[in-house]
Amino acid sequence: MCGIIGYLGKKPIVPVLLEGLKRLEYRGYDSAGIVTLSNGKINLVKQAGKISNLESLLAERPINGVAGIAHTRWATHGVPNSTNAHPHTDCGNKFALIHNGIIENFGAIKTDLISKGHEFKTQTDTEALVHLIEEFYKHHMPFEEAVRAALLQVEGTYGIAVVCSDEPDVIIAARKGSPLVVGHGDGENFVASDVSAIIDHTKQVSYLDDDEMAVVRRNGIEVKTISNLPVQKQVEQVAFELGRIEKGGYDHFMLKEIMEQPSTIKDAMRGRLIKDEGIARLGGMHEVMEALLNAKRFLITACGTSWHAALIGEYMLEEFVRVPVEVEYASEFRYRDPVIEENNVVIVISQSGETADTLAALREAKRKGASVIGICNVVGSTIARDVHAGAYLHAGPEIGVASTKAFTSQVTLLALITLFLARHRNMSAAKGAEIVQEMAALPEKVEKILGLREQIKKIAQLYHMSNNFLYLGRGYNFPVALEGALKLKEISYIHAEGYPAAEMKHGPIALIDENMPVVFIATKDSTYEKIVSNIEEVRARRGKVIAIATEGDEEIGKRADHVIYIPQTQQMLQPILTIIPLQLLAYYIAIMRNCDVDQPRNLAKSVTVE
Ligand code: AGP
Ligand code: GLU
Repeated sequence: MCGIIGYLGKKPIVPVLLEGLKRLEYRGYDSAGIVTLSNGKINLVKQAGKISNLESLLAERPINGVAGIAHTRWATHGVPNSTNAHPHTDCGNKFALIHNGIIENFGAIKTDLISKGHEFKTQTDTEALVHLIEEFYKHHMPFEEAVRAALLQVEGTYGIAVVCSDEPDVIIAARKGSPLVVGHGDGENFVASDVSAIIDHTKQVSYLDDDEMAVVRRNGIEVKTISNLPVQKQVEQVAFELGRIEKGGYDHFMLKEIMEQPSTIKDAMRGRLIKDEGIARLGGMHEVMEALLNAKRFLITACGTSWHAALIGEYMLEEFVRVPVEVEYASEFRYRDPVIEENNVVIVISQSGETADTLAALREAKRKGASVIGICNVVGSTIARDVHAGAYLHAGPEIGVASTKAFTSQVTLLALITLFLARHRNMSAAKGAEIVQEMAALPEKVEKILGLREQIKKIAQLYHMSNNFLYLGRGYNFPVALEGALKLKEISYIHAEGYPAAEMKHGPIALIDENMPVVFIATKDSTYEKIVSNIEEVRARRGKVIAIATEGDEEIGKRADHVIYIPQTQQMLQPILTIIPLQLLAYYIAIMRNCDVDQPRNLAKSVTVE
């Protein structure tokens, strides 16, 4: 998620905190805020938008102090505005807290605290935590103990820093699932979500692990476990140059985001899989629940990669919910006066939530009376605010122009929606439990595929000078063929086409010769035998075959020039695995062609024009 920095020391505190936030700008954010402690009170300034907006506000309302924390927010709960920006304070303005991550059980905590008289000011999940700390503190628990007791009640992920006006010489930090580091200075100390925020001041850092807390003072840092056991942390010397740190140590944001997918897929499912009932829980759908359950037809509309995810959603919903689904490019949908009948539900998919064609399509659907739900990544984006209901990906900012982690999270969300609806129709609890189990296993399987980078790099080395590529797949893997081709063409500028494998005979086979690499998604599924025949057709014309196959499948090994073996999973979930090697193949080929992977020519991350 987003950015944290805290400081205790003798330097002017606001410049240290602001410069630290600017070092975190690359992570993408929608608002920012700062707190300093002075004269026994909390000084709070926060603002929506760029850090420069916060800076302007600080110029009007200067604050100072001996300790302080600051945050850049990437909203997950509550639209990005100055109220929902961090830091968040308690009823008595004694505590101020900043948070990266998602507090899954914030609703229950908030309800209990409201019953105890707490007054909430924001829509965020984070605010529940600062009031919970206040509640424990009010019952005579020391600051550190109150923080520990509150965190032990939290489900979800956090990287936090919290200050208390009664103890202005300490910052308490804690980590569970969102990275935190403490920086060791001379008469000054730091907390940050990323070393890039503090590298101008110290290169001596200690990385917190999950379920650890740090009590940071000007002249020392004490690290303990959440269960109050002392921990001896190693002090490490930061070796990276700044540019690489901002990319998490990777050469490009795109690779960082490809590698993040085990955790972003987990975040997409967080709090939404009910294992024992074999069902999915979708919080943001209440307003359209009846329309969803009674839907007689779905129309899914999107652009680019999101449109490919939509195609997979079509296969899922038709197979398991047995309702007709139509997928349409948003740019076509909006202009062709679509037929929308009663009990039609329109689903719009958009990572950025700002794509002009998708926004126009959504508004056209609403005008024609459809219930419209959205699958977006950016909280509070225009599309997210315009739909009747929706679900967020929780994938964190996607900086690379070529969409990767958003795609796998979109497909994950579509699987959750399918599971939810199917279990309200004909799917048995046993089948539901089987799918839930398979979904829960996806992050680990993605991790395993990411371990194949060296093999994929070697294949990229052999074919990076090709002028054309063909990607072929059937069923659920046909949209994956389209997405694999899009990934390659948009970052390496090689002409690549995705096709249904059976369609190759109706024209594209004329392209096959010894210079044509053909990527087959040939995993074990209901169309496997047919794919094997298609591979033979390509080989008969001397085409080079690169196959994505299921672990243990010797057959494919005998027929393809190169095989990338991936773990087995449910057919409907295969796209989440089969796309990973294709993302990596496109990435390595583009690197070998010296292309600008993160900002390919002619492309924008969000196409807000028609
Ligand atoms: C995908 O890699 C491209 N960047 C592009 O096709 C993108 O998917 C499309 O512009 C839709 O963007 P959205 O999901 O933000 O609406
Ligand atoms: N879930 C918190 C919010 O929405 C934190 C978001 C973040 O990690 O920036 O405010």
